[in-house]
Amino acid sequence: MKNETIRVPLGQRAYEIHIGDGLLAEAGSLLAPVLRRPRIIIVTDENVLKAQGERLKSGLNARNISSEFIALAPGENAKSFAELERLTSRLLDLGVERDDTVAAFGGGVVGDLTGFACSMLRRGCGFVQIPTSLLAQVDSAVGGKTAINMPQGKNLIGAFYQPEIVIADVGALETLPIRELRAGYAEIVKYGLISNADFFEWLEDHGSALIGGDAKARIHAVKTSCAAKAAIVADDEREKGKRALLNLGHTFGHAFEAAFGYSDKLLHGEAVALGMTLAFDYSARLGRCRPEDAERVKRHLKTAGLPCAIRDLPQDLKAASILDYMMQDKKIEQGALTLVLAEKIGSAMIVKNADSADILEFLKEKTGA
Ligand code: GLY
Repeated sequence: MKNETIRVPLGQRAYEIHIGDGLLAEAGSLLAPVLRRPRIIIVTDENVLKAQGERLKSGLNARNISSEFIALAPGENAKSFAELERLTSRLLDLGVERDDTVAAFGGGVVGDLTGFACSMLRRGCGFVQIPTSLLAQVDSAVGGKTAINMPQGKNLIGAFYQPEIVIADVGALETLPIRELRAGYAEIVKYGLISNADFFEWLEDHGSALIGGDAKARIHAVKTSCAAKAAIVADDEREKGKRALLNLGHTFGHAFEAAFGYSDKLLHGEAVALGMTLAFDYSARLGRCRPEDAERVKRHLKTAGLPCAIRDLPQDLKAASILDYMMQDKKIEQGALTLVLAEKIGSAMIVKNADSADILEFLKEKTGA
């Protein structure tokens, strides 16, 4: 099966995303040109280490690259100040210097924490991404956003820090639990909804094969998603404008994640799926998009096994508390919400000064409280 390469054109910080089936075996050859020393520190979690660690290690051994693994406890709780302190301290103990390279080998949590640690370690050391979850392969490993969570909200403390290469092996998805696969799929759907109606249609036809394990479909979807993201990041690396489109569904979604304490009661991608449904519903309520489009989005996400109604959540939430969490969003400007809404499938837009009283009414209708 053909490997694919997407370039993220960011001048001196440009890098390549390699996508293929079985790329962990080639990790040594892919990494060699970006390593300044034949050694790498791999930050991962215990599940990924067990499922994929040997494959990566032998790929590195094949090119005589020495490796040291640091395995975190799995879960969103790793994105905390306490874990950041522990990780940076461990990296210093291992003698990591600026010219050393640290790899994030895992999902979005490992990538966000490791990237943030690398951005500050000796004011910046080498950093590469080897994402093993679908969500990380199509979104979080690309574009340089790194962060930890705070009790006030998700990803509130962080930095933009680009990796030097991304290696996305769809073979690593074979050991991913189905729930996580579905959660990652939500971020793929996002790219269709934002700017590519043809891709959304392709997903309607191929989504279940992709989730079911079709490697060719997975490579196509990861490639299309990464190409869309690379183009947006190249135009607006620091989210001064259009990069915010990538947050479709996230303002609603982050509020649900915060309400559930970032626990595995609700995965990020599940929150995004519900958030995208609400963003389309709210767009329809404002007369900005056709209700038929909102229904079509909901239908597709439901077919993919994702939550698409507040009543699908594992516990009741009040509209006012959802809005309170939404008001912690990073896109807030002078106290007013910025929302990503939709004109139709394949065309999203950024709307500033959203009317929070009206959003509260909308949430009351959706929650019944
Ligand atoms: N996940 C959204 C972004 O990278 O901008």
